[in-house]
Amino acid sequence: MAPVTSLSDSVNQQLSSAISATLPEASADPLLRRSDRADFQANGILALAKKAKANPRELATQVVAKVESGDVIKDIEVSGPGFLNVTITDRAITDNLAARYADATGRLGVPYAPDPGITVVDYAQPNVAKEMHVGHLRSAVIGDALRAMLDFTGERTIGRHHIGDWGTQFGMLIQYLFENPGELAPAADVDGEQAMSNLNRVYKASRVLFDADEEFKERARKRVVALQSGDKETLELWQQFVDESKVYFYSVFEKLDMEIRDDEIVGESAYNEGMPETARLLEEMGVAERSEGALVVFFDEIRGKDDQPVPLIVQKADGGFGYAASDLTAIRNRVVDLNATSLLYVVDVRQSLHFKMVFEAARRAGWLTDGVTAHNMGYGTVLGADGKPFKTREGETVRLEDLLDEAVQRAAEVVREKAKDLTEDEIQERAAQVGIGAVKYADLSTSPNRDYKFDLDQMVSLNGDTSVYLQYAYARIRSILRKAGEVRPAAHPELELADAERALGLHLDAFGSTVFEAAAEYAPHKLAAYLYQLASLYTSFYDKCPVLKAETQAQVENRLFLCDLTARTLHQGMALLGIRTPERL
Ligand code: ARG
Repeated sequence: MAPVTSLSDSVNQQLSSAISATLPEASADPLLRRSDRADFQANGILALAKKAKANPRELATQVVAKVESGDVIKDIEVSGPGFLNVTITDRAITDNLAARYADATGRLGVPYAPDPGITVVDYAQPNVAKEMHVGHLRSAVIGDALRAMLDFTGERTIGRHHIGDWGTQFGMLIQYLFENPGELAPAADVDGEQAMSNLNRVYKASRVLFDADEEFKERARKRVVALQSGDKETLELWQQFVDESKVYFYSVFEKLDMEIRDDEIVGESAYNEGMPETARLLEEMGVAERSEGALVVFFDEIRGKDDQPVPLIVQKADGGFGYAASDLTAIRNRVVDLNATSLLYVVDVRQSLHFKMVFEAARRAGWLTDGVTAHNMGYGTVLGADGKPFKTREGETVRLEDLLDEAVQRAAEVVREKAKDLTEDEIQERAAQVGIGAVKYADLSTSPNRDYKFDLDQMVSLNGDTSVYLQYAYARIRSILRKAGEVRPAAHPELELADAERALGLHLDAFGSTVFEAAAEYAPHKLAAYLYQLASLYTSFYDKCPVLKAETQAQVENRLFLCDLTARTLHQGMALLGIRTPERL
């Protein structure tokens, strides 16, 4: 199936050639966008006229004379100070949508990027032996959506879950397990909940000992050294913590309806072996220097209190390596071994200074070259309904699982209310899709760098910009298609279109360009906004244009075709956001 050229692209091409036919030296972008006044408006002539010292309206008139109206462009006229208003033929709209509809690959005619790269996406990175909280939710949800969107454009993505599975805290845990064998059941024998409660118990017990017993503390310290030097027995105990934690992580990711691959869980420990070399290279190149025994990188432009430079610590004075060393080593691996052209880190904005320093150090070392981009998609904080950072009534951080369970429960109430004829099993299945979808959508529809309020009432509401609203739109269309029975959707390019049909059609045409733009800008909220608008345009179409009761058989078929293409586009778009679209609600 050949990819479909979007209507805006073909208008753009025609205007560009008309511009260069008028001003041969100029290569001007017509700056085309959707408009209320016509189908599209181009305002690129203004800048062009300024440069050529020409009268913009006159120039616009000359360009219009060079545009060949025909199959696609029905009408083009100059408006205002020199804008071009373009109207598309009804036939071109229907033909274009029919080509998208005929695409058997399910891509709706959207082409692949001509020159894709490799993006390593660092997301969903919980910490071993620790409960996941609402901050981990954002990284997982945003990262998963960005990844799907990038994949859709043809980019190759590699996931990296940089889990916190290394560091001095493991000395205490392992020493405790060494002295109290059998406290962790084998990972194969527990479910996620049991795994986390075992880990919690061990964590608390070892913490108590560590704080109260100086001798235990000393043994725990020695254990850190044993871990770092690769002592076999110590590593085996460490592995038990990792395995038990993974059982828990997987249970949460499953609840989140998210696929996580084991080979992409590559935590801090994976870079352990490379860290001494990272430090050596940085020192040899003069990127890092010794300061009070530690190996650090200084940045003129990054200063903290009293205008003192804030250093990035590669190696502590006691010889230990930390978070920065693992991230620098990871960059070497991702660029050199994985051939990444882009590095994307979906990590809380509170770590943005860390990444700024890590990226800069890696650039100085030549590990990040001009051909590689590195970006920290630093997301904001999840707030409670009161606008303060999200906490339980007791002031503790909220467990991610409790939150998800509550969302599903609320969704069940909504589903039960709405669909009286569903069995309890069906209600539970839909409730999971609606509840988890609601949580994801609320997150994704806000610009990631902004804080957002976690407000379940609003999230599962049927009205407004929610996933439930989109899911209902989808289910409603599916029900119309079922009611149509024998009558099949079919495009009839000979038919004239009503305004609501044209508006819907032009929006459907923009799906591909929206995904490309949202993926390139790492902005899932742009896709969410597109889908919300799609559902709204569909609603106005449905209000104004009878489908099954349309006047002629051809019109019924053509409207069913618009319905079906809308459903497919909603389904595809929601899937990119990681959200299900149930057939019935
Ligand atoms: N595990 C870390 C945390 O919970 C996030 C890791 C982010 N990724 C990275 N490459 N540093 O804060």
